[in-house]
Formats: sequence, structure tokens, C-alpha cells
Amino acid sequence: MFRIVTDTKFQVGFESFTDTTAYDRLELDGELPGWLSGTLLRSSVSLFEVGTTRMRHWFDGLAMLHNFTFADGEVAYRSRMLGSRAYREAQKAGHATLSEFGTDPCRSIFKRVQATFHPELTDNGAITVNRIGDEFLAMTETPMPVQFDPRSLETLSTDHRAKAPGDISTAHAHIDPGSGGMLNYALKIGPKCSYRFYTVGGSGGPTVVATAATRRPRYMHSFGVTDNHIVLLAGPLTISVGKLVGSALAKRSFLESMEWKPELGTEILVFDRHSGELLREFETETMFCFHHVNAFERDGRLVVDVCAFEDPAIIYELYLDNLRGGEARLPQATLRRLVLDLSDGGVTAEQLWDGYFELPRINYRACNGRPYRYAYGVSAAPGVTEPQWFESLVKVDVESGEAKLWYEPGLYPSEPVFVSSPEARAEDDGVVLSIGVDAEARHSELTVLDAASMEPIARAAVPHVIPFGFHAYHYSKL
Ligand code: CO
Repeated sequence: MFRIVTDTKFQVGFESFTDTTAYDRLELDGELPGWLSGTLLRSSVSLFEVGTTRMRHWFDGLAMLHNFTFADGEVAYRSRMLGSRAYREAQKAGHATLSEFGTDPCRSIFKRVQATFHPELTDNGAITVNRIGDEFLAMTETPMPVQFDPRSLETLSTDHRAKAPGDISTAHAHIDPGSGGMLNYALKIGPKCSYRFYTVGGSGGPTVVATAATRRPRYMHSFGVTDNHIVLLAGPLTISVGKLVGSALAKRSFLESMEWKPELGTEILVFDRHSGELLREFETETMFCFHHVNAFERDGRLVVDVCAFEDPAIIYELYLDNLRGGEARLPQATLRRLVLDLSDGGVTAEQLWDGYFELPRINYRACNGRPYRYAYGVSAAPGVTEPQWFESLVKVDVESGEAKLWYEPGLYPSEPVFVSSPEARAEDDGVVLSIGVDAEARHSELTVLDAASMEPIARAAVPHVIPFGFHAYHYSKL
């Protein structure tokens, strides 16, 4: 079956919401598992109009934090805007003052790149949250994380020690398999550009653990890590240093300084995680990826699973005018497996499932960097080949290619966060948490699904719409 719809109901998820709220108990339908405790921390993209500035791109909305706290079969909920410099200065000035991904209201990029402390770059930590010991950070793709209190959601510091040693970073940090600290990526821009990986432990600033020079830097949103390797998959969405540095008068946004050069193909850089040495560079088909799913070693090969688009058209579909005007058509992302032969440099590629697959999650604690079976993601509604927005959740068995889809018309789910049960015997023994927007009823719900069957077991009603966001993490103890 083939179905094209023009559906504008999901637009409620792109309306600004900035209220500070606190609910001790959300109304529950169904029963939460007795073992489910801890806190789900989520960021959302929540404020699109700042005084006279109207954000142009979905990624530019200012960040809000949300927490869902589970205890004794109940769930409490809070929301609060992230007190980033971007938010505070915009409130004061009556317009946005810092450059966002697709909106550069008034500053020159030349100044941003020249400045050593990046005073012009945004710290709008809307992409995700990360943890280093007891410190919680809201992060975006600039070097400045914002520290917040995971209970009250109050902002604690916009000058945190974990600043990335570079100009562009990723919010998708990993837990460093060696130290348990944070392992992350940075791109250093200058006369000589370099990719860098760095760790941040319980105290002190970042330590660079691997570097590789690049003459033509590319845009990366995440990377893969195994016990022995770091994997950087660099599609040909290049960052034009010339455009960045030479655009003093052009007032281009970061997005407008990127160039798609499909003829360059995709580079995959594999580093030794222990020594930092660049072990090998691979070349493969042209693709654009936001998200790595997992990576692991098997029989002398490195298996790298990603969500792959044919090109970066998705980024341009996510301009707010497209999304709000019902014009958006999300290009298809598929779950792709790349197998890298470390001895001869060969790469083979295959598609693991034939449906739409994005915002991937796995049983991270048990499986990251190791062979695994289950990947969870968002997908299209059954039969829809050109989705306008995500309408279902899917669990793919990456060994068999079988999938279980959960779809409920009118509910727009978010990234499925897997939480393992404490006595888990199987990889999928636990629940999946997803915050959906019920467009008709104009409110959000936290849906709790049994991860084995992908059937809902409980729903907690949030009295308002939580605007769409990207990522969330569950922590069993804060
Ligand atoms: Co992401």
C-alpha cells in the first residue's frame, strides 16, 4: 500500500512552550512496573520567537528541560527553560543575540571563528543531556555545555569545565569505556583543521586522546565507540572554512556555511581508542548520517550500524516554515550496516530493515560496543513512504531483520528510550519510554511500552504539549 498524506496536526509540537511546571503525580492509565525508578531527563526545542527574532530552523528553538521521576508506581513531572546564555541574553535584549544552527540574527561568523572563547556562539543545549559523575550537562554542537540540577532543572553554570577543545562538537558524547568519564568529539577549525576526540573525567578539563588532520572538514552529529576503537563516519556534508571565515558581511548561519559534495563519498576514520592512533581510513558510498546506532568488533571486522540518508535534504526540510506549513516531506533514513575489514580496508554495506528508521537507541549499558540484537527507533506510519513526521516506534532485530512496530493514529511519538529491568536476563527485558504528542487532545503523554512485545503497558498524561525534541536519557540514580 502507498499513501501520501498532508497532515498538519503534528504542528502543535512546534509551538513555543516556556512554562515552569511541577506535578507531583501525573494521571496514569495502566500500571508502571514496580521496579521502574529513577529519572527520565529530556530536552525539547521550546521557544521559537524571541522578541523580534523568529527562529528559522527547528534546531534553533531555545531549549527546555523536562524530568519524569518514577517511584512507587507513580511518576512526577517538571519542566523549566534552560538558563543558557543564549536564553538569558535574548530575554534581556529582546531579540536573539547568538548564532544558532540556521538563524544568525546579527553577528558575523568571522568574529565567531576568531574568538578564542567563542563569545558569539550559542550554548543552547537543546540536543541532549549528558552526565559526568554527579554533573548533568545540556549540550548542543558548540563547545559550551550548560550544567543543570537534574531535580529542580535549575541552571547551575554556563562556564563548565567540560568545554570541547575545538569550535564545533557533538552532543552525542559516549561513556568512555576506559575511564567511565565522557568521551566526545570536537572539530578544531583554523589554518589547519583537525578532528579531535577528548575525555572529561570527574575533575579537571578535557584531555585530547586522538586527533586527525583534515583539509576539508565535514559535519558530524555522532560517532561510534567500542572497547578498542573510535569510529568517525564522515559523509560529504563539508564545512566550508572559507565561507565561515570569509563571510564577515554575509551574516550566514552555520547551516549556510555547509556544502554537500556527493562526489567526495563517505570517509570512515577508525582510531585505536587506547593509543589514539588513526588506524585506517575507509571509503564507502555517499550518505548523510546524524546517528550511529552501535559499533562492534566481530571476526577481525568492525561492524558499524547507522541511520543513513541518501543526502542531507532532511536538514532543509526542517526549516520551520516547511514544518508548520505542512510542506515537510522527511527523506527516508534507513538502518544500514557497514562492515569494515581492518586488514584489507574493504567495506561492505547492507540495509538491515526496509522501513524508515531514525532516532536510534539500544540497550546501551549492556550492548554498546558489543554484538547486539535490538535497535529501537522512530518510524513512519504503516504504509506511508513519504512521512511528514514520525508516527510510530519500531524495534528491529538486527540479526534477523524482523521488526515490531507500534503505531497509534494521532499520537506522534519521540525517541524510544530503553530502560533495562534490574534483573534482566534478556537484552530486551525492560521497558521503552517515549514522550508522544496527542495532537487532537493537545497534550503530551509519556508512553511506557514493554520492550519485548512493544505493546504499551502504561501512559502518563502531561497536561500540556511538550514540544518535539531530539533525545532523552534515563538515569536509575541521580
Ligand atoms: Co541526535
